[in-house]
Amino acid sequence: MINSARAAIADFLGCDNDEMVLGANMTTLTFSVSPAIGRELQPGDQIIVTKLDHAANISPWCALKEKGVNIQVVDINIADCTLNLNDLAEKIHSHTKLVAVTYASNAVGTINGLAKIVKLAHAFGALVFVDAVHYSPHAPINLHHLDCNFLVCSAYKFFAPHVGILYGKREHLTRLTPYKVKPGSNEVPFKWETGTLNYEGLAGLVAIINYLAKLGCHVSPTLDNELLDSLIQADKEGLTTFHSPSFLTAPER
Ligand SMILES: Cc1ncc(COP(=O)(O)O)c(C=O)c1O
Repeated sequence: MINSARAAIADFLGCDNDEMVLGANMTTLTFSVSPAIGRELQPGDQIIVTKLDHAANISPWCALKEKGVNIQVVDINIADCTLNLNDLAEKIHSHTKLVAVTYASNAVGTINGLAKIVKLAHAFGALVFVDAVHYSPHAPINLHHLDCNFLVCSAYKFFAPHVGILYGKREHLTRLTPYKVKPGSNEVPFKWETGTLNYEGLAGLVAIINYLAKLGCHVSPTLDNELLDSLIQADKEGLTTFHSPSFLTAPER
C-alpha cells in the first residue's frame, strides 16, 4: 500500500519514489526540515522568506533566529500582489543559505515564476524550499523541471485525506539529519518518517491521484475563472478588489 502511494505521488509530482517524505501535513513536515537545515548553518547566515507566503513557510525558518540566523523578508508589489523580484535580488547574497517561497499564494492567487527564483538562488549557492500547497490543486507539478531543492504540499488541498508530502532532492534527504527514534530506519526517505504512517489517508490519496489522472486535469481553469468572475462581481462592502488591468493580466495571475 505504501509503495503504491509512493508510486502515485511520484507520478503526481514528477519525482522518484524515494525522494518523498510522507507525514501529517505541510506545516509539520516543514518544522521537521528546518531544524535539520539549521544544524548546517552558522550565526550570520541568512534565510529569505516572503510576504506572499503562508505562515507555515515563514515560522519554521524564523525559528532558526535562535541560532543566530538572519531572516530577510521579500516584499510584494502592492499594485498587483506579485513578488518583488528586485527586492529579492537586492537581499540575496553569498551568506543566503535558503530561499523559502510559495509556488502560489493562498491569499491572492499570485503564481510565482519559480524558474527565475530557483536560478537566482542557486547562483548564490542557496537552497530553494517551495510551498506548493495552494498550487498543487490547480496545475501539474514537474519536479524534474523545477529543480528546487525541496517542495511541500498537502493532499487535502487536492481532495485527498490529510497527508503531507515533502519532496527533497536525494542528496539533501541523505545528508541532513532529522530528529528520529533510535530504532527507526536510517535509510532515505524512512529516516524522515516518524512513527506510523497514515495508511487510510494514503489509500485515499492513491484513489484521488488516479481519479485526477482519469479526469486529465486538476481544478479546471474554467471553474477557476468562473469563481474569480463571481468574486469580482460580488464587490461587497469590505471586499477589496484589484481592478487594475496589470493585476488581472499579469502572467503571474
Ligand atoms: C499556501 C499554504 N501553505 C501552507 C499551508 C499549511 O498546510 P497544512 O495545513 O498542510 O499544514 C496552507 C494551509 O492552508 C496554505 O494555504
